[in-house]
Amino acid sequence: MDLRLIKDLDLKNKRVLIRVDFNVPLKEGVVTDATRIERALPTINYILDQEGASLVVMTHLGRPKGEKNPEFSLAPVAQKFSELLGREVIMAEDCIGEAVEAQAQALKAGQVLLLENVRFYKEETKNDPGFAAKLAKMGDLFINDAFGTAHRAHASTEGVTKFLPSAAGFLIEKEVAFFAPLLTDPEKPFVAVIGGAKVSSKIGVLQSLLDTCDTIIIGGGMSFTFLKVLGKKIGSSLFEEDYLPVAESLLHAAAEKKVRILLPLDHVCASEFSETAEAIAVDGQDVPDGLLGLDIGPKTLAEIETELKAARSIVWNGPMGVFEFDTFAHGTVSVARMIAQSTGTTVVGGGDSVAAVNKFGFADQIDHVSTGGGASLEFLEGKTLPGIAALMK
Ligand code: 3PG
Repeated sequence: MDLRLIKDLDLKNKRVLIRVDFNVPLKEGVVTDATRIERALPTINYILDQEGASLVVMTHLGRPKGEKNPEFSLAPVAQKFSELLGREVIMAEDCIGEAVEAQAQALKAGQVLLLENVRFYKEETKNDPGFAAKLAKMGDLFINDAFGTAHRAHASTEGVTKFLPSAAGFLIEKEVAFFAPLLTDPEKPFVAVIGGAKVSSKIGVLQSLLDTCDTIIIGGGMSFTFLKVLGKKIGSSLFEEDYLPVAESLLHAAAEKKVRILLPLDHVCASEFSETAEAIAVDGQDVPDGLLGLDIGPKTLAEIETELKAARSIVWNGPMGVFEFDTFAHGTVSVARMIAQSTGTTVVGGGDSVAAVNKFGFADQIDHVSTGGGASLEFLEGKTLPGIAALMK
């Protein structure tokens, strides 16, 4: 992918408008996971290191539906951002308008202004050109480092590039550098580990991976729809009736393309979906009546280990079981550990699997932990991400 990069632009004495994805989780007004802020810091610090440069930062937070709602104010984010950046962050009252424009224009070298939530205007998600032009007035040039929002054609991600010289920041550059080869020329063997509750949200990615993967490991709740297609008993496990035909044709396509699909060979079950439920080991693929599968078992893990040890490229999206419950976390923790120990290139994307590698402390041993949830999935599906397409040379 031939992106225009931040290093291609002369930032000296410029007011740089940057779009980041600071859509971070908050609890009682406190940021509970600042990963997305931390991951934008290399670009932000690089800009602030340029002689005479100042910075205007924009992001969305949540889905306030085009209305000014204090619940979605970026004020708590500004506080965390300032703490991590180690300098003052001026919080603007709005993201457009004369007062904020004056505030942006008055910035001195090294100063940072954070605009209020761009989604306080419905024009943002409508990618309204007039609104994008107003945002563009906040800077002399535009850097996009919001990989997590790159799948949205919004005014602050795509629209604004029509009004200012634009380029990708280091985070977008890194995300693309890890994801793009998986779609074109991954080092082989290439193994994908796909999990999570629903087939419906992962079908696009599974279809796309059939073109480049050698093996696709399917775990989590979604595996039961596939097991049912194969005529296995699934007890009261989760499954999607409507997706049985899709799952069936995917298995056929995989066989034609000689892609190995590895489904759970055994399970850890329970009689109810509950944190305190007793774990019941079930040997074999069939789940007895009255039980539901909540994690993968040891036979499955042994087979996954063999695949992952041989892999030269691994991508992981979606947990292997209900890892939020300690009793049913073993499969997901073990897979996270195996991926961390791999000597191949390892990429983890998607909210839950990223949460799992962070929770279990493996993030540092993985080559790339994506900041994108929906964006990383759409990238792997082979879709064009509008925020990135707008930065192409
Ligand atoms: C995300 O958290 O996936 C991104 O910030 C995008 O948010 P959205 O799904 O509300 O557009």
